[in-house]
Amino acid sequence: MPRIPLIAGNWKMYTSLAEARTLAGAVVSACKGLTDREVMIAPPFTALATVAEVVRGSQVRLAAQNVCWEEQGAFTGEIAPGMLRELGCTMAIIGHSERRQIFGETDALINRRVAGAMRFGITPILCFGETLAEREAGQTMAVLERQVRAGLSGIAVAEPANLVLAYEPVWAIGTGKTASEEQAQEAHEFVRNLLLDMYEKSIAQQMRILYGGSVNSGNVDALLRQPDIDGALVGGASLKADSFERIIHFRQ
Ligand code: PGA
Repeated sequence: MPRIPLIAGNWKMYTSLAEARTLAGAVVSACKGLTDREVMIAPPFTALATVAEVVRGSQVRLAAQNVCWEEQGAFTGEIAPGMLRELGCTMAIIGHSERRQIFGETDALINRRVAGAMRFGITPILCFGETLAEREAGQTMAVLERQVRAGLSGIAVAEPANLVLAYEPVWAIGTGKTASEEQAQEAHEFVRNLLLDMYEKSIAQQMRILYGGSVNSGNVDALLRQPDIDGALVGGASLKADSFERIIHFRQ
């Protein structure tokens, strides 16, 4: 069974409410009639309710950029999975390199977020990727293996659609430097084999692995043509309606 490609927009800490409403409206329009791919957007927490109204009834899925593992409690600054569900969020980005690098999130903490999200019916998009120094030191695959195994430690996956992975080389995020299709495919194939080692074959073969890091309207087609690249996690180019529309309409 072919995997259904997923195009995901990560708006990071951008958009006022008015901008979020306009951008989400453009994404909904761009998705009309598309049946062979899924599209998701992750606005900042403050815009989730606004964007939820705009995407309601459309095929655009709503995601958060992070999620806590607890149902409620004294966790200042965190958002519970049930709170996200209430707004219509069905996915959450977890372990983004900006969370790891700027806010010190560890593999163990990220693992708790993945487990908590799944427990409450939120599909995690687990991000991982090597830094430039790690790549230059020949450690890429070791880093990916550590992040994927630790991030998914103890995580059972009943349905392949319940978990999405995203390979995002840190040196390619927001830098304009994309991994070549060959570099990306090599990493994705390595992760696919890891998943085959960790999960039943029918699950591991169907789980989606997205590529992220300077994806734009010019490189998306070539990246998504690779056999183990099942979609894109897009930052900067998802903030411009025209470029994200072209990415949504990628041609394999
Ligand atoms: P970028 O960001 O597309 O701006 O490189 C990707 C991401 O951080 O998810």
